[in-house]
Amino acid sequence: MSTATGIENISTILVIGAGTMGRQIAMTAALAGYSTTIQDISEEGLAAARTELETWAASRVAKGKLGQDAATAALDALAYSTDLDSAASNADFVIEAATERLDIKTQIFEKLGVLAPAHAILATNSSTLGSSKVAEATGRPGQVCNMHFFNPALVMKCVEVVRHETTSDATVDTTMELARRLGKEPVLINREIPGFIANRLMGAIQREALFLADSGIASVQDIDTTARTALGHPMGPFALMDMVGLDVIDFIAQATYAETGAAEDAPNERVAALVAEGKLGRKSGAGFYDYK
Ligand code: CAA
Repeated sequence: MSTATGIENISTILVIGAGTMGRQIAMTAALAGYSTTIQDISEEGLAAARTELETWAASRVAKGKLGQDAATAALDALAYSTDLDSAASNADFVIEAATERLDIKTQIFEKLGVLAPAHAILATNSSTLGSSKVAEATGRPGQVCNMHFFNPALVMKCVEVVRHETTSDATVDTTMELARRLGKEPVLINREIPGFIANRLMGAIQREALFLADSGIASVQDIDTTARTALGHPMGPFALMDMVGLDVIDFIAQATYAETGAAEDAPNERVAALVAEGKLGRKSGAGFYDYK
C-alpha cells in the first residue's frame, strides 16, 4: 500500500480546472514557491486564467503590495496545460477544482489514481461532493480528501480540510500543513457533512435574508446594509450571492437538498428564477444587483 507524502516532499502542485477557483488556488501555490501547473481541457479557459493572473500580479505590484521579483517568480512558477496525463505524472499534490459533476470528477480521480506518483495526495476543492465519492476510484482512498478554498481564493484565509472515513492521518497532516504554507488558516472537519462548516453558516444567513426579502419585510439593499453595518460582515448576503454566482448558489442548494431532504435546505425560487433569466450575479452583469 502507498503512503501519503510528507510536506517536505511536496514541490510540485497540480490544480485541475482553470475557473474562478482553480486559477486563484494555483496562483496562491505559485506565490508560496511551489512549481504549479493549471490543467484544463479548454485552451480559452487557460488563456483567460493567465490574463487574469498576470493582471492581478501587475496591479499588486503597482499598489506596492507585491515586489516585482516575487510577482515574476510566481508567474514563472505557473505552467498551463491541457494535457492531464503529463501534468499528473510529476505532481506531489493535486487539487481538483473542475466542474461540480460527480461523473466528471470520478473520471478525473480514476485517471489520477493511475497517473500521479504513488506518494501524491489527491484533494478536491469541491464544496458539495465529499471526497468519499471519488476516493475508491483512485485505488488509494487514504490519500484523498477535500481541500476547500473560498472565493476569492487569493484573499480568503480559510481552507476546510475534510476527511472521509478512510482518509489517513498522514494525508490530513500534510494537507493541513500545505494550507498553512499557502498562507491559509485551515480548519479540520472530521466527518463529511453537506456544506461542511462555511457553506452551512452562509446558507443559514442566506435563507433568512431571502425570507426577509421574499416576505417584503425589507429590501435587498437594506438587508445587505444591515449585515455590513450591524454585524460587520464585509458584504451583505445578496452581494455575496452575486459574487459567488447565483448558479453556484442554486447548485449548492440543490445538491444539499438532494442529500439531506431537509425543508430548510430546499433551493430558493427567487434564486432559481434569476438563474433561469440568465442573471447569474456579477459574472453575467446582473443578479440581485445590476453591474452594467
Ligand atoms: N480576486 C483577487 N483579489 C481580490 C478580489 C478578487 N476577486 N476581490 C478583492 N480582492 C482583493 C483586493 O485586491 C484587495 O486587496 P488589497 O487590500 O491587498 O489591495 C482586497 O481583496 C480587498 O478588496 P476591496 O478593497 O476591493 O474590497 P473589500 O474590502 O470589500 O474586500 C472581499 C473584497 C475580500 C471580497 C470582501 O468583501 C469579502 O471578504 N467578502 C466576503 C467573501 C466571502 O464570504 N467569500 C466566501 C464565499 S463562499 C465560497 O467561496 C464557498 C463556496 O463553496 C461557494
